[in-house]
Amino acid sequence: MTDDTLQNRIEQYFAAGPSAIGDPSALPVFEEFRSALERGEIRAAEPDAESPTGWRVNAWVKQGILLGFRLGHLVPSGDSLPFVDKHTFPLRRFSPEDRIRIVPGGSSVRAGAYLATSVICMPPMYVNTGAYIDEGTLIDSHALVGSCAQIGRRVHLSAASQVGGVLEPINASPVIVEDDVLVGGNCGIYEGTIVRKRAVLAAGTILTRGTPVYDVVSGTVLRAKDETPLIIPEDAVVVPGARAVSKGKGQEWGLSLYTPVIVKYRDEKTELSTALEDLLR
Ligand SMILES: CC(C)(COP(=O)(O)OP(=O)(O)OC[C@H]1O[C@@H](n2cnc3c(N)ncnc32)[C@H](O)[C@@H]1OP(=O)(O)O)[C@@H](O)C(=O)NCCC(=O)NCCS
Repeated sequence: MTDDTLQNRIEQYFAAGPSAIGDPSALPVFEEFRSALERGEIRAAEPDAESPTGWRVNAWVKQGILLGFRLGHLVPSGDSLPFVDKHTFPLRRFSPEDRIRIVPGGSSVRAGAYLATSVICMPPMYVNTGAYIDEGTLIDSHALVGSCAQIGRRVHLSAASQVGGVLEPINASPVIVEDDVLVGGNCGIYEGTIVRKRAVLAAGTILTRGTPVYDVVSGTVLRAKDETPLIIPEDAVVVPGARAVSKGKGQEWGLSLYTPVIVKYRDEKTELSTALEDLLR
């Protein structure tokens, strides 16, 4: 079956709404779709030189993932491990009837995620469905790769870094982190932000659609626009900073707001700093 055919069938079952739930032919199509995701054959977004951002969102892939949620029902999940603790405080047990979803594992990779060979996952970490993670990437402890996020080759997602997911709105671009990016500890990348090749996010940098980024090298302020997400340029070194509030009470009170700052573009010192990070592997 070609991807086109799979795409058509996914779109049809998605368009069918709740009636797909009772259709026995829907689940095998979803499972075929999920396997293709896990092999990396289809992606929620993919490089496209024709697109203004360099990436094309495949809305039908997100529809397929949402179809999976629609078709799914709650079942017991996960393997039990031999933990030991005081008998007075045993673990609470839940069943599907409780209508509480507890997703298993200190580290988990959810079905429908693609991980290339040589990806390293340090516990605990979590990769959600539809995520695409390319060769040689390191996902460190407490890192999260949200649904449909696209992570390039040799990316270092440091401890506790959070890459937001996006399933809806269906056309929304997922977070994209291109090849050789260093995402420092405790960073957060959300709302379709694109981080271009070899950029470096210093520990604690947070990027969202609403966060202006001050580039003191070029003298420009980078922002998301209507159809364009926040885009961090290639080789940018971004650190968490602050800027004075310039109006109203905020100014009167001398407040400042968090803002990421591009302090420079990669230089020899950055190569040294990031090479040291690589040694941690
Ligand atoms: C960004 C980083 C890689 C340093 O890169 P670098 O090219 O060596 O940067 P430099 O040290 O030359 O710093 C450039 C400027 O940014 C500032 N800066 C660097 N890191 C900063 C940070 N985290 N927060 C605020 N400012 C920072 C420096 O003070 C310097 O400004 P100055 O010239 O006005 O003093 C490093 O700071 C970093 O955050 N590494 C990630 C560490 C990490 O998260 N490890 C996770 C292990 S799991």
